[in-house]
Amino acid sequence: NNKKTLEGKTVLITAGPTYEAIDPVRFIGNHSSGKMGFSLAEEAVKRGAKVILISGPSSQVINDKNVDIHRVTSAKEMLAKVFEFYENVDIAIASAAVADYAPKEVALEKIKKNDDNLIIELIKNPDILKTMGEKKTHQFLVGFALETQNEEENAKAKLQKKNLDMIVLNSLRDKGAGFKNDTNKIKIFTKTDAIEFELKSKENVAKDILDFAESQLLK
Ligand code: PMT
Repeated sequence: NNKKTLEGKTVLITAGPTYEAIDPVRFIGNHSSGKMGFSLAEEAVKRGAKVILISGPSSQVINDKNVDIHRVTSAKEMLAKVFEFYENVDIAIASAAVADYAPKEVALEKIKKNDDNLIIELIKNPDILKTMGEKKTHQFLVGFALETQNEEENAKAKLQKKNLDMIVLNSLRDKGAGFKNDTNKIKIFTKTDAIEFELKSKENVAKDILDFAESQLLK
């Protein structure tokens, strides 16, 4: 598929994990590698889009004059970067695994090993995708749902709650799906449709996601 189906469109993609600092040497993070988001960025530029890729810490690289990459660390930094661009994008896809909570206070010095128990108080991070949903004007908004149980119910609830146009569900119960793997297995939901895909490479999953988004945009 060499058709420039996204010519003239700007696509914003969030990718990778976020790291929430505990002290100067430690953080709370997750297993996201960034592969899913970078595959989406690669496929979108192939289709002629201009891509704004906002990634948390990831070893993935992308070199293309049509990809404007911004590397961030925490959820709050990702939120700020997203809203530098959100107003002017046509499609936004949130594939980042954003930490839901961050340490309330970041210790200025390395926390010393001391008592048997250490309690770190966490506070809720901003929900970047939910904020995008609230500020949506013309953007076609795509979210992800990473679930381990009640997958469909949770994904559909997120579609509704975050004011999305479509949501991509991946479940850690499916072998080869989710974090780190080069493969993923997804289901896509809109308010009216549900479609299930086979296990595939993340490159091909990215194609399915963009094909589906384009079909919705043409509706
Ligand atoms: O990076 P890989 O190793 O390739 O793995 C890919 C992936 C598993 C990370 C990816 O396919 C995926 O599922 N990303 C979403 C992970 C996630 O955090 O899902 P969630 O169900 O917790 O969040 C729902 C949606 O809200 C997501 O679009 C997420 O980006 C967004 N969100 C969540 C919390 C928050 N504070 N801000 C957000 O924007």
